Amino acid sequence: MANKITSFEAETTKIVSTFIISALVLLLLTVGSGLLGSIYYSKYFPILSSLGIPFQTLRPFHTVAAVTWIYMGGLAVVFSFLFSQSKQDHLKQNAIFRRTKLQLKIWLLAGILAFGSLIFQFYTGREYIVFHPIISILILWGWILYARSFFQVVGFNLKKQPVYIWMWMTSIFLFIYSFVEAHAYLLSYFETYPLRDIAVQWKSYGALVGSFNLIVYGSLIYVASRLTKEMDYAYSNTAFFLFFIGTLNSFTNFAHHTYHIPQSLWVKWIAFSISMLEIIILFKVLLDMFGLKKMWQLKERFPQTTLLLLLTTIWTALQLILSLLISVPPLNSFVHGTLIVLAHSMGTTIGIDTMAVLAGIALLVQQHRKMLNIPQPSLSQTGLPIAIFNIGLLILWLNLIYEGLRTGVMLFDNQVIPSILIFSKYFSTLFLMGGGMILLGIFWIVISWIWSTCNKR
Ligand code: HEM
Repeated sequence: MANKITSFEAETTKIVSTFIISALVLLLLTVGSGLLGSIYYSKYFPILSSLGIPFQTLRPFHTVAAVTWIYMGGLAVVFSFLFSQSKQDHLKQNAIFRRTKLQLKIWLLAGILAFGSLIFQFYTGREYIVFHPIISILILWGWILYARSFFQVVGFNLKKQPVYIWMWMTSIFLFIYSFVEAHAYLLSYFETYPLRDIAVQWKSYGALVGSFNLIVYGSLIYVASRLTKEMDYAYSNTAFFLFFIGTLNSFTNFAHHTYHIPQSLWVKWIAFSISMLEIIILFKVLLDMFGLKKMWQLKERFPQTTLLLLLTTIWTALQLILSLLISVPPLNSFVHGTLIVLAHSMGTTIGIDTMAVLAGIALLVQQHRKMLNIPQPSLSQTGLPIAIFNIGLLILWLNLIYEGLRTGVMLFDNQVIPSILIFSKYFSTLFLMGGGMILLGIFWIVISWIWSTCNKR
């Protein structure tokens, strides 16, 4: 017999499910557009050109979908926390429900306008803020509503709060500040100073990436604390120290993108030194790997979340090694413009952010199933799509690294500009194969979740 659901639970479930479904639709758009885009790396690219799907539309479509998927998925976890904290206060609850519904409507409108304008090939030409500034106003408005709800629940007294609250709070300030900064190009001053423009653009993008990373890492710690029912780590000095390093790095990591432009040497040195501090994070992640056996014991109760958390830890270790290597300036100049950069950016956004957000959503879906008395799938039922997704990612990642290294060496020797003409014979096949497996695995996971999230019984 189904549990009796209170009106509070029904409303909470509706709003969190809207976040989850929007996030999963964005994830499918990301993977679908990525796979289509990868055809441009193969001999079949004339098909896309003849269909009128240019790469300059597909790429921003893909990256905007990827970034918004991570934000929306991470926020699903944050909102499930916020609602769980406002259970007792009906007035507060109603205000947050109303505000969050408005926030979702504004973002839906922003999403339709942003993707619509991309489809009609109307873009600003910027790297990530590709859409018209009017759409940015809608996005910002939604964030201000979210900030209000967050502080209404959490308050401003952060003294005894766990690290994930600090992370989520910092991400709000980081987003709002750097999102506004990313629009500095609209000021006529930057038209006359293109180098400043590049530096400010990448500085703001670095902090924007930092803001979604903080949402994701905060959610990761929150989910792990709920699984293990242990709050020690969330309050530990180690967690706060790593949070400090990560946040500091968000402000300086941009210099990797601007090592090649004439910029004050001290900016480059500070960026390099702080990025090397990530060795400490790598050390911590490697230590965590020893704890994976303990985490694995939770697989009976939380099969999907445990597996995805475990994979997130492994991918984090791999990505940190790659990131640290390509942050060393001589190596950075060697790999700049090669596919290693794509291995780094896609490796981190898929292997760490996507995997962690999926782990958080898996827990929310499991709670939803429990509430509706829907049987939980076992590890053997859920393991296969996750395995297909991860093997696909490994193929994609290794293929990009290999090709990046190969073309980096060629560039160094012969000054050949990396282009599709010099890619090795199997590159495009492996790229499409890896992408296809990621799509299959993710599609399988998402459909099973959308099915149970929509199941009202
Ligand atoms: C959750 C899944 C995915 C995420 C989060 C993601 C993320 C990203 C990001 C952040 C970039 C920008 C890279 C940069 O500027 O350095 C990118 C570019 C790209 N991605 Fe993905 N991606 C995903 C899945 C895929 C899949 C399955 C494929 C298919 C093989 C794919 C193909 C591409 C291509 C072709 C580019 C453009 C590369 C270029 O500029 O030449 N992506 N992706």
